Amino acid sequence: MIFITGGAGFIGSNFVIDWFSQSNEKALVIDKLTYAGNADNLAPVTADGRVHLERVDICDGESIAALLRAHRPRALLHFAAESHVDRSILGPADFVRTNVNGTFALLEATRAYWQGLGEAERPAFRFIHVSTDEVFGSLEPDDPAFDENSSYAPNSPYSASKAASDHLVRAYHRTYALPTITTCCSNNYGPYQFPEKLIPLMILNALEQRPLPVYGDGLNERDWLFVSDHCSAVRAVLERGQVGHVYHVGGRNCVRNIDVVRSICRLLDELQPRARGSYADGINFVRDRPGHDRRYAMNPHKIETDLEWRALESFDSGLRKTVRWYLDHSDWVRKVRSGEYRNWIERQYGPAASHPLH
Ligand code: NAD
Ligand code: TYD
Repeated sequence: MIFITGGAGFIGSNFVIDWFSQSNEKALVIDKLTYAGNADNLAPVTADGRVHLERVDICDGESIAALLRAHRPRALLHFAAESHVDRSILGPADFVRTNVNGTFALLEATRAYWQGLGEAERPAFRFIHVSTDEVFGSLEPDDPAFDENSSYAPNSPYSASKAASDHLVRAYHRTYALPTITTCCSNNYGPYQFPEKLIPLMILNALEQRPLPVYGDGLNERDWLFVSDHCSAVRAVLERGQVGHVYHVGGRNCVRNIDVVRSICRLLDELQPRARGSYADGINFVRDRPGHDRRYAMNPHKIETDLEWRALESFDSGLRKTVRWYLDHSDWVRKVRSGEYRNWIERQYGPAASHPLH
């Protein structure tokens, strides 16, 4: 069986569902179920016992060690993290705790377990660390995309904490020969993304006729990847990746934020037209994010050539599926937007942000 940390979050739950569309190998999800984790996301695969969810904090090394001893997985896929840049600016402590100390606790427990494995099992074991393009900082307009030789230059507490976790993973491979592989992926979007991130926030604000808060001049650029393409990349790395290597994952879909928001509005105008006007009427330029990275772009050449991975969705096809998914899953949306969600929106965007435009 395999262990998946953070499997109740956005990418983790997509990964678990995708895993069982291809495999019958059991999975144990380790998740603290923070505001971003939702056990309901796994309902399609928990009912028949293929997945078991343990509500455990990755900082709790003793519990992790006990789970490893009890279930003896052949791989651990590490998705769990605090993941939202704006939250890291308002409260960095949780990011250092989970992303740095939590990854450290996980590595220590895994090292002890792995060292106790038999001669045949030890080299076959994998620790797959899921990281981000944000650890490389911000690109200038004419810079080439980040590749596996780019230098680390994180700019937010989130990216700094992920960078620290990447360094620990690297050190555990170099020092103890733990069979680790790290993936660095660009911005994901798709079903089950918590509506604090750009794309679901804009879809839901638009539908409720709330302002669409675009930071700064809206010209910051991200390299967007539909989440199922990230899942297939992690699977390829688990199956065929070289131990000790890093693989960059991206969609070759670099889009400016304002164009992302306009595309969402166009799709909503088509799929659920307003009585009057366009959803784009709600676009509202607001104060910029401190330290806002201007541009990210990933060069996925290595994973494409060495592991024969390809992104299957274009930005247009993926965004259409995403908008459709949020239109069709109002129950999921209602459940995740708890009191905690409303508090966050008021704290980040001010009290007016929770009221409809008219
Ligand atoms: P998410 O915030 O949606 O989910 C994170 C999950 O981790 C949640 O289920 C949460 O409950 C769990 N978690 C948080 N702290 C925990 C702890 N201390 N112990 C156990 N579980 C804990 O995040 P996501 O967007 O699904 O991202 C998953 C991973 O992918 C993260 O490591 C992130 O850095 C990385 N990543 C994300 C993106 C993106 O665009 N979302 C892009 C590249 C890489
Ligand atoms: P986000 O989804 O938070 O991902 P990340 O910061 O990890 O790239 O934001 C994506 C881009 O959208 C980023 O440049 C910030 C911008 N943004 C807005 O303009 N308004 C918003 O309300 C949010 C949440 C993000």
